[in-house]
Order: sequence, then C-alpha cells, then structure tokens
Amino acid sequence: MYKIGIIQKIHDKGLELLDAHRDFEYEIIDDVSEENLLKKIHLYDAVSLRVSKLSNNLLSKATKLKVISRHGVGYDNVDTSYLKQNNITLLITATANAIAVSEHVFYLMLTISKNFLNLDNEVRIGNFKSNINKFETFELHNKEILIAGFGRIGKNLIKKCLGFDMKVKVFDPFVDEQVIRNMGGEKVDNFENALKTLDFLSLHIPLNKNTQDLIDLKKMKTMKKTSVIINTARGGIVNEADLNQALNEKTILAAGLDVFSNEPINLNNPLLKNKGIIMSPHTAALTNECKIRMGKETAQNIIDFFEKKVNKNMLVNL
Ligand SMILES: NC(=O)c1ccc[n+]([C@@H]2O[C@H](COP(=O)([O-])OP(=O)(O)OC[C@H]3O[C@@H](n4cnc5c(N)ncnc54)[C@H](O)[C@@H]3O)[C@@H](O)[C@H]2O)c1
Repeated sequence: MYKIGIIQKIHDKGLELLDAHRDFEYEIIDDVSEENLLKKIHLYDAVSLRVSKLSNNLLSKATKLKVISRHGVGYDNVDTSYLKQNNITLLITATANAIAVSEHVFYLMLTISKNFLNLDNEVRIGNFKSNINKFETFELHNKEILIAGFGRIGKNLIKKCLGFDMKVKVFDPFVDEQVIRNMGGEKVDNFENALKTLDFLSLHIPLNKNTQDLIDLKKMKTMKKTSVIINTARGGIVNEADLNQALNEKTILAAGLDVFSNEPINLNNPLLKNKGIIMSPHTAALTNECKIRMGKETAQNIIDFFEKKVNKNMLVNL
C-alpha cells in the first residue's frame, strides 16, 4: 500500500482515479504550514503538490518520498537539485494548462485594451455620454506582441494572437526558427531590441536565476510609452517595484498580472493601489475544465509512477 499526501485538495475526478486503485491510500492536507507538514511528510511515498513550498527542511524529513506530482507545470516551489541528489522523481501536468493560461492572457489584454473596468463602472453610474471619450480603448488588430518563452503555453497563445490579426514575435533561444515560422511567428534573437517595438509583452518562461528580475526599469525605459506587460508566468520575472515606478511615471501604459513575488500579495504592496495594473490571484489555470485536467493528470502521474509506466511528457529531467 502506497501512502499519498495530497497537499491541498485536487479535483474529485482526480481523487476518483486514486479511489479506483487498491494499492493507494491518500490523505488530503489543507493546512500547508511547515509546522503541520513536518508532522506528516515522513509518512508519504508520494505527494501531490499545488503552489505551496516544499522547503529543503521538509524534504529532508520525507524519508519515504519517491515522487512529487505537481498539480501544474511550474516547479519553482521545490529545489530540483535536492530532488536529483535524493533520486526523487518530479512529474507535472504537462498537457493540462496551456489553453486556460493563454485564454487568460487574452482576458488581461482585452480588459486593458477595452478599458473594461472603467467602462463597466460608467454604466453602473448611468453615464452613457458625458466625458465617455476620456476612457480610451484600442484594438489588438495589427498590434505587435512579443511572446517570451515558446513552450506549451506560448505555442497555444500564438494561435489566438493570429486569430486577432496580431503580429507575433517570439523570443526563445531554445526553439528553432523554423518551428516558430511554421506557426506564424517571427523569431527574434535579441530580446533587448525586440522590447523597443512591441505593443504587448507576454511572459511564458520559468522563474530561475537567469529570469529573476528579467524585466526591470532599465528595460521598461526602452519600451514604447503605449506598451503593455502581461505576466502569467511567475512573480519575480518582472521587478515589482520597478513596474510600479514605470507605471507611475508613464514609462509604459499598463500591466496585467496573474502572479506576484509573494503570494498572497502583501497588502502594503503599492501595486495594489496602482490603477495601471489589472490583477488576478494566480488563477490563470483555474478554469473548471483545467481544474479537472490538472486533478486527473496529477493523480494519473502518481499511479503511472508506481506502475512503472511514466508518461515521458510529464517527467521533468532533473
Ligand atoms: N499563472 C498560472 O497559473 C500558470 C499556469 C501554468 C504555467 N505557468 C507558468 O507559465 C510558464 C510557462 O509554462 P509552459 O508550460 O509554457 O512551460 P514550458 O516549459 O513548456 O515552456 C517554457 C519555454 O520557455 C523557454 N525559456 C526558458 N528560459 C528562457 C529564457 N530565459 N528566455 C526565453 N525563453 C526561455 C523554454 O525554452 C521553453 O520553450 C512557467 O513559468 C509556468 O510556471 C503559470
């Protein structure tokens, strides 16, 4: 019997997959404090992990742990070098997230370009005429978007951008020019140069030591004053203090953020008062459909691991 720790509940459809196997018993852990997890982590052969952090202190107590199944695709909440050294397998829900996240990019872009929050408010106060022109809107048609990171989400996003007749540039040094061209994009090799002409920057890269603070004030100052930054990847890729300053000084027009350096965001964070930003609380992947896909893939990955038939697409090469 394998014991599974479900760290934060997954969709019932995922739990049903585990229920159907006699070899597994699971426990759902809602209290994700280090203190509570320390009491339990030694019990588990496998864990399902959402966004809470598994510190090295916790991992060092996880003496039975053989596999971590991430409910999602980013894995900056675990120390991959520790997993490698200790022969712990890391699996992700690789085919679950791309649709929901790329739709969320459009939700953020359109909310900004259509000035949605202000116009909704004007209706509620009965204003259909006076001063309505002060709320400018603009089209996505013919605008240039730079997709940084052309993996699962970037590749899904480009199809939607082309549907809106946007001009798509792609920065991803690890993807062949031909692959990008075949999908209707133009590969750029020089990120700094590409920043100068874009209307939208959408980030789809992992957070690591190379991408931490990748977008800082110096880079924002090279962008057009009408440009918009969309970050659904990870907080910390865009420097938050610099973004706040750039928006206050009208260096760029706006930003749409689903992710933050600290989650939940500190209530003193000045971004919360900045009218140039629209935000969502790390919910890009939490559509009804995606929650089912992630729950099922998380559970199936654990089952496949113990049945020695891991799907290679789900495996992170540590
Ligand atoms: N907001 C959410 O709920 C949510 C959900 C899913 C994924 N994400 C995040 O979205 C990001 C992308 O996910 P994905 O599934 O597309 O990942 P992926 O691994 O399929 O693609 C990432 C791409 O980024 C490229 N890349 C890596 N470093 C780069 C760099 N410095 N510059 C340019 N390109 C670089 C890689 O070559 C790869 O093609 C991740 O950060 C992930 O954590 C967020």
